[in-house]
Amino acid sequence: MNTTIVILAAGQGKRMNSALPKVLQPLAGRPLLRHVIDGSREFGASDICVVYGHGGDEVRECFAGDELRWALQAEQLGTGHAVQQAMPDTPDNNRVLVLYGDVPLLRPQTLAMLVDGCRAGEVGVLTVDMDNPFGYGRIVREKGRVMKSVEERDANDDEKAISEINTGVICAPADRLKSWLGRLSNDNSQGEYYLTDVLGMAVADGVVVHGIKADNQAEVMGINDKKQLAEAERALQKRLVEQLLEDGVTIADPARVDIRGELKCGRDVFIDVNAVFEGDVSLGDNVKVESNNLIRNSDIGAGSTIHSNCHVEGATTGANCEVGPFSRLRPGATLATGVKIGNFVEVKKSTIADGSKVNHLSYIGDAVIGRGVNIGAGTITCNYDGVNKHQTTIGDDVFVGSGVELVAPVEIGKGATIGAGSTISKSAPEGKLTLERAKQVTVPGWKPPTNKK
Ligand code: UD1
Ligand code: CA
Repeated sequence: MNTTIVILAAGQGKRMNSALPKVLQPLAGRPLLRHVIDGSREFGASDICVVYGHGGDEVRECFAGDELRWALQAEQLGTGHAVQQAMPDTPDNNRVLVLYGDVPLLRPQTLAMLVDGCRAGEVGVLTVDMDNPFGYGRIVREKGRVMKSVEERDANDDEKAISEINTGVICAPADRLKSWLGRLSNDNSQGEYYLTDVLGMAVADGVVVHGIKADNQAEVMGINDKKQLAEAERALQKRLVEQLLEDGVTIADPARVDIRGELKCGRDVFIDVNAVFEGDVSLGDNVKVESNNLIRNSDIGAGSTIHSNCHVEGATTGANCEVGPFSRLRPGATLATGVKIGNFVEVKKSTIADGSKVNHLSYIGDAVIGRGVNIGAGTITCNYDGVNKHQTTIGDDVFVGSGVELVAPVEIGKGATIGAGSTISKSAPEGKLTLERAKQVTVPGWKPPTNKK
């Protein structure tokens, strides 16, 4: 049987108090809705329809690269009304699985459990026992059988005492679902067409409704406000870190690592406290990430160490490099093998070949640096003339003394030495000492200033 997944994402999310539509709020660095869409794909749905409305184009643009069906819910009249918008193009003999854009932690295996629990023509609702069910719809059972779901605001005291809640996720045959949706009323405390009323209608029509319990509360939590968003973030981070630990990564404190994207790790990787990984990051075998590092969209080669307090973005390092403490690698920083980048060094859009060192207080931008080069403390590539960027090329085995300004475009020949304090604006020849410095003088008759007060 083909499955259509309908993802409800039209709501504004008033309780977020934010200009950003709720389903675009970031969780582990990615929009809530991204998690739900990826989970749906992993489950293996052939047809995914997102019901959108609030934040319209902003939401659609965010997923422009995805193969999705979009259904507009121009006015947000409730979850049932939302699902209805997705029905016209849904084949009658499909199975429909409804997911919520604000329930992002649901795993594909839990969806499979729900679907497997229902035979053709039957209805399933994913439920869970919540310690604090406040705010959720409650599942009303009689003799163990699901009879209906009641919203918090419509529930009587007995119903409010029920701890089994409706996660919102349901599974139903498309043809029956269409007819129930067509008969929904909005005669309730919120004046909305509730999807959850479908459960009671199915029971009334003699259709079996399975209440299938998830075993994990965090997985089915709905995110309505920033407090729940923060809780979900912790729950997801815990899940991601547990996976890394299972894979053999050593993590100093599992509660102090954040992964906002995808982190791939080789064998025997060590991650110290307060490391934040964003986008796609890979760490090779035996990589060490010391405390307080932000690493974004970068590949760190085997055996390399990122010492404390670095900001690394869009960078690639080869094997056995040392970066930091206090270094900044910006996009296009490409280090070969055994390169050392030391404290207060910024590298941007530059390649640095094997064994070269930039150890202290330097800016290297738009440069191509050969092997075995030593860049002295405080050396700067002056790559920008105020309008254009220019390249600096430094040959193998060059020694650049401290405090040198390399005014690009400029080329330093292989094996050259540049004297400390030079401003080099013309190319320097191979194997020679080049320097540019005023003669040192000692001013005769100079006296130190005196205090005039
Ligand atoms: C809903 C359920 C509740 C369940 C809870 C689980 C209903 C009536 N209630 O309540 O039983 O326990 O989820 O988290 O279904 N949406 C639309 N269009 C609308 C209204 C909502 O697309 O007109 C979307 C929202 O963007 C959101 C989702 O549907 O992603 C759920 O809506 P929300 O208002 O958060 O429902 P809850 O009050 O949480
Ligand atoms: Ca919700």
